[in-house]
Amino acid sequence: MIVCVCKSVSDRKIRAAIADGMDSFDELQFELGVALCCGKCEESVRDVMEQSGVCASRCGVEKREVVAPLTFYERQAA
Ligand code: FES
Repeated sequence: MIVCVCKSVSDRKIRAAIADGMDSFDELQFELGVALCCGKCEESVRDVMEQSGVCASRCGVEKREVVAPLTFYERQAA
């Protein structure tokens, strides 16, 4: 899937770059050119970094808390 439309960078290319040792957003930006044009892909690039196991301090993504949706009965009780 294309993550950065402006530079035609796919998630596979980002994952390959991470596997090659790039472990910061700045490095990916420098090497692949992601988020340097319109910048709309920055969050998606950081998501790919997080999914690839780059630690939160390097990719800038805080751990997200997974919130289960309320059931019908929980919504009625609220
Ligand atoms: S989509 Fe990545 S810079 Fe525009």
